[in-house]
Amino acid sequence: MTRSATLAGVFDDLADGYDHGHHEEIARALIAWVAAGAVGAVADVACGAGAVAVQLARERERTARPVLAVDLSSRMIAVGRARAAGLVPDTAIDWRVGDAVPLPVADGSLDLVLCASSLHFLGRRAPADWRRALRPGGRVGFSLPLATHFRPSERFSRLLADDVPLPRTAEEASALVTACGFTGAESRVHVLGTRRVVLTSATRPDHP
Ligand SMILES: C[S@@+](CC[C@H](N)C(=O)[O-])C[C@H]1O[C@@H](n2cnc3c(N)ncnc32)[C@H](O)[C@@H]1O
Repeated sequence: MTRSATLAGVFDDLADGYDHGHHEEIARALIAWVAAGAVGAVADVACGAGAVAVQLARERERTARPVLAVDLSSRMIAVGRARAAGLVPDTAIDWRVGDAVPLPVADGSLDLVLCASSLHFLGRRAPADWRRALRPGGRVGFSLPLATHFRPSERFSRLLADDVPLPRTAEEASALVTACGFTGAESRVHVLGTRRVVLTSATRPDHP
Protein backbone atom coordinates (compact mmCIF):
# COMPACT_ATOMS: atom_id res chain seq x y z
CA MET A 1 0.00 0.00 0.00
CA THR A 2 1.29 3.51 -0.80
CA ARG A 3 1.92 6.02 1.98
CA SER A 4 -0.96 8.16 0.66
CA ALA A 5 -3.36 5.22 0.76
CA THR A 6 -2.27 4.37 4.30
CA LEU A 7 -2.78 7.98 5.44
CA ALA A 8 -6.18 8.15 3.77
CA GLY A 9 -7.22 4.88 5.45
CA VAL A 10 -6.08 6.00 8.91
CA PHE A 11 -7.97 9.30 8.67
CA ASP A 12 -11.03 7.62 7.11
CA ASP A 13 -11.10 5.46 10.26
CA LEU A 14 -10.72 8.49 12.55
CA ALA A 15 -13.28 10.69 10.79
CA ASP A 16 -16.40 9.76 12.75
CA GLY A 17 -14.71 10.23 16.14
CA TYR A 18 -12.62 13.26 15.17
CA ASP A 19 -11.85 15.82 17.89
CA HIS A 20 -13.57 18.79 16.23
CA GLY A 21 -13.44 21.03 19.32
CA HIS A 22 -9.64 20.86 19.56
CA HIS A 23 -9.09 21.41 15.83
CA GLU A 24 -11.61 24.22 15.61
CA GLU A 25 -9.81 26.02 18.41
CA ILE A 26 -6.51 25.68 16.54
CA ALA A 27 -8.20 26.87 13.32
CA ARG A 28 -9.61 29.93 15.11
CA ALA A 29 -6.19 30.81 16.52
CA LEU A 30 -4.49 30.24 13.16
CA ILE A 31 -6.96 32.41 11.26
CA ALA A 32 -6.64 35.16 13.87
CA TRP A 33 -2.83 34.97 13.65
CA VAL A 34 -2.55 34.91 9.86
CA ALA A 35 -5.71 35.61 8.04
CA ALA A 36 -8.02 38.08 9.73
CA GLY A 37 -10.08 39.58 6.92
CA ALA A 38 -8.61 37.21 4.34
CA VAL A 39 -9.82 37.94 0.85
CA GLY A 40 -9.00 36.54 -2.57
CA ALA A 41 -8.04 32.99 -3.48
CA VAL A 42 -7.50 30.82 -0.41
CA ALA A 43 -6.59 27.14 0.08
CA ASP A 44 -6.99 24.95 3.17
CA VAL A 45 -4.28 22.30 2.70
CA ALA A 46 -5.03 18.86 4.16
CA CYS A 47 -8.32 20.32 5.33
CA GLY A 48 -9.62 17.22 7.10
CA ALA A 49 -13.20 17.98 8.17
CA GLY A 50 -12.70 21.62 7.20
CA ALA A 51 -12.00 23.27 10.56
CA VAL A 52 -10.20 26.11 8.76
CA ALA A 53 -12.21 26.14 5.52
CA VAL A 54 -15.59 26.36 7.23
CA GLN A 55 -14.54 29.13 9.61
CA LEU A 56 -12.96 31.11 6.78
CA ALA A 57 -15.99 30.64 4.55
CA ARG A 58 -18.25 31.88 7.35
CA GLU A 59 -16.18 35.06 7.71
CA ARG A 60 -15.98 35.87 4.01
CA GLU A 61 -18.38 37.80 1.83
CA ARG A 62 -21.01 35.58 0.20
CA THR A 63 -19.64 36.71 -3.18
CA ALA A 64 -16.06 35.61 -2.37
CA ARG A 65 -14.64 32.78 -4.46
CA PRO A 66 -14.85 29.33 -2.89
CA VAL A 67 -12.23 28.28 -0.37
CA LEU A 68 -10.27 25.38 -1.93
CA ALA A 69 -10.20 22.52 0.60
CA VAL A 70 -8.11 19.43 -0.25
CA ASP A 71 -7.64 16.22 1.72
CA LEU A 72 -6.60 12.62 1.02
CA SER A 73 -9.38 11.19 3.17
CA SER A 74 -12.76 10.99 1.48
CA ARG A 75 -14.38 10.26 4.86
CA MET A 76 -12.93 13.41 6.47
CA ILE A 77 -14.19 15.44 3.49
CA ALA A 78 -17.64 13.85 3.83
CA VAL A 79 -17.77 14.83 7.51
CA GLY A 80 -16.61 18.34 6.56
CA ARG A 81 -19.33 18.69 3.93
CA ALA A 82 -21.97 17.57 6.41
CA ARG A 83 -20.72 20.02 9.07
CA ALA A 84 -20.62 22.89 6.56
CA ALA A 85 -24.18 22.30 5.37
CA GLY A 86 -26.43 24.96 6.83
CA LEU A 87 -23.46 27.06 8.01
CA VAL A 88 -22.24 28.23 4.61
CA PRO A 89 -23.68 28.02 1.08
CA ASP A 90 -22.74 24.84 -0.84
CA THR A 91 -20.65 26.94 -3.20
CA ALA A 92 -18.54 28.55 -0.46
CA ILE A 93 -16.09 25.62 -0.26
CA ASP A 94 -14.58 23.71 -3.16
CA TRP A 95 -13.97 20.29 -1.53
CA ARG A 96 -11.47 18.02 -3.27
CA VAL A 97 -10.36 14.50 -2.36
CA GLY A 98 -6.72 13.89 -3.26
CA ASP A 99 -3.11 14.64 -2.50
CA ALA A 100 -2.75 18.29 -1.48
CA VAL A 101 0.84 18.36 -2.77
CA PRO A 102 0.95 19.75 -5.35
CA LEU A 103 -2.14 21.89 -4.88
CA PRO A 104 -4.43 21.70 -7.94
CA VAL A 105 -3.91 25.37 -8.85
CA ALA A 106 -1.84 27.38 -11.31
CA ASP A 107 1.49 28.90 -10.28
CA GLY A 108 1.15 32.24 -8.47
CA SER A 109 -2.65 32.02 -8.30
CA LEU A 110 -3.33 31.99 -4.54
CA ASP A 111 -3.42 34.88 -2.07
CA LEU A 112 -3.36 32.74 1.06
CA VAL A 113 -2.48 29.15 1.98
CA LEU A 114 -3.46 27.75 5.36
CA CYS A 115 -2.48 24.35 6.73
CA ALA A 116 -3.61 23.31 10.21
CA SER A 117 -2.07 20.38 12.08
CA SER A 118 -0.94 18.63 8.89
CA LEU A 119 2.48 19.78 7.70
CA HIS A 120 4.14 16.99 9.70
CA PHE A 121 2.32 14.47 7.46
CA LEU A 122 2.95 16.35 4.19
CA GLY A 123 6.68 16.87 4.47
CA ARG A 124 8.93 19.61 3.19
CA ARG A 125 7.64 19.32 -0.39
CA ALA A 126 4.52 21.14 0.86
CA PRO A 127 6.06 24.56 1.69
CA ALA A 128 7.98 24.38 -1.59
CA ASP A 129 4.65 23.90 -3.39
CA TRP A 130 2.97 26.71 -1.40
CA ARG A 131 5.68 29.03 -2.65
CA ARG A 132 4.87 27.95 -6.22
CA ALA A 133 1.11 28.36 -5.77
CA LEU A 134 1.17 31.74 -4.01
CA ARG A 135 1.39 35.08 -5.80
CA PRO A 136 4.28 37.37 -4.82
CA GLY A 137 3.34 38.91 -1.48
CA GLY A 138 0.88 36.08 -0.78
CA ARG A 139 0.73 34.70 2.75
CA VAL A 140 1.06 31.29 4.30
CA GLY A 141 -0.03 30.18 7.75
CA PHE A 142 0.35 26.80 9.41
CA SER A 143 0.12 25.18 12.79
CA LEU A 144 2.12 22.28 14.18
CA PRO A 145 2.11 20.53 17.52
CA LEU A 146 5.00 21.59 19.74
CA ALA A 147 7.44 18.66 19.93
CA THR A 148 7.75 18.89 23.71
CA HIS A 149 3.99 18.32 24.17
CA PHE A 150 3.25 15.85 21.35
CA ARG A 151 2.70 12.20 22.26
CA PRO A 152 1.68 10.42 19.04
CA SER A 153 0.50 6.83 19.07
CA GLU A 154 2.75 4.19 17.49
CA ARG A 155 0.42 4.13 14.46
CA PHE A 156 0.66 7.93 14.04
CA SER A 157 4.42 8.04 14.55
CA ARG A 158 4.92 5.81 11.53
CA LEU A 159 2.97 8.27 9.34
CA LEU A 160 5.03 11.36 10.12
CA ALA A 161 7.21 12.84 7.38
CA ASP A 162 10.87 12.45 8.28
CA ASP A 163 11.91 15.80 6.75
CA VAL A 164 9.68 18.01 8.96
CA PRO A 165 10.91 17.63 12.54
CA LEU A 166 8.29 18.98 14.93
CA PRO A 167 9.45 22.36 16.27
CA ARG A 168 10.56 22.63 19.90
CA THR A 169 10.36 26.42 19.78
CA ALA A 170 8.64 29.19 17.79
CA GLU A 171 11.99 29.93 16.09
CA GLU A 172 12.25 26.35 14.82
CA ALA A 173 8.76 26.62 13.30
CA SER A 174 9.69 29.83 11.46
CA ALA A 175 12.86 28.15 10.17
CA LEU A 176 10.74 25.50 8.37
CA VAL A 177 9.39 28.08 5.91
CA THR A 178 12.39 30.41 5.90
CA ALA A 179 14.37 27.41 4.57
CA CYS A 180 11.93 27.28 1.63
CA GLY A 181 12.44 30.95 0.75
CA PHE A 182 9.56 32.59 2.63
CA THR A 183 10.23 35.93 4.32
CA GLY A 184 8.97 37.70 7.43
CA ALA A 185 8.22 34.44 9.26
CA GLU A 186 6.67 34.95 12.68
CA SER A 187 5.65 32.19 15.08
CA ARG A 188 4.17 31.93 18.51
CA VAL A 189 3.27 29.12 20.87
CA HIS A 190 -0.46 28.79 21.53
CA VAL A 191 -1.65 27.06 24.70
CA LEU A 192 -4.70 24.76 24.61
CA GLY A 193 -5.15 23.18 28.03
CA THR A 194 -2.27 20.75 28.42
CA ARG A 195 -1.46 20.88 24.70
CA ARG A 196 0.76 23.33 22.82
CA VAL A 197 0.80 24.22 19.14
CA VAL A 198 2.99 26.64 17.20
CA LEU A 199 1.33 29.09 14.82
CA THR A 200 3.46 30.45 11.97
CA SER A 201 2.84 33.07 9.31
CA ALA A 202 5.15 34.10 6.47
CA THR A 203 5.14 35.86 3.12
CA ARG A 204 6.03 34.64 -0.34
CA PRO A 205 8.77 37.01 -1.57
CA ASP A 206 8.45 39.07 -4.75
CA HIS A 207 11.23 37.23 -6.56
CA PRO A 208 10.52 33.72 -7.89
C1 LIG B 1 -4.58 15.97 11.99
S1 LIG B 1 -5.55 16.08 10.53
C2 LIG B 1 -5.82 17.83 10.39
C3 LIG B 1 -7.00 18.13 9.53
C4 LIG B 1 -7.45 19.60 9.51
N1 LIG B 1 -6.48 20.45 8.86
C5 LIG B 1 -7.78 20.12 10.88
O1 LIG B 1 -7.20 21.11 11.30
O2 LIG B 1 -8.65 19.53 11.54
C6 LIG B 1 -4.38 15.75 9.24
C7 LIG B 1 -5.03 15.65 7.87
O3 LIG B 1 -4.00 15.61 6.88
C8 LIG B 1 -4.50 14.83 5.80
N2 LIG B 1 -3.37 14.52 4.91
C9 LIG B 1 -2.21 13.93 5.25
N3 LIG B 1 -1.40 13.87 4.17
C10 LIG B 1 -2.07 14.46 3.14
C11 LIG B 1 -1.77 14.72 1.77
N4 LIG B 1 -0.59 14.38 1.23
N5 LIG B 1 -2.69 15.37 1.01
C12 LIG B 1 -3.90 15.72 1.54
N6 LIG B 1 -4.25 15.48 2.82
C13 LIG B 1 -3.33 14.87 3.61
C14 LIG B 1 -5.17 13.67 6.50
O4 LIG B 1 -6.05 12.96 5.67
C15 LIG B 1 -5.87 14.41 7.65
O5 LIG B 1 -7.19 14.77 7.31
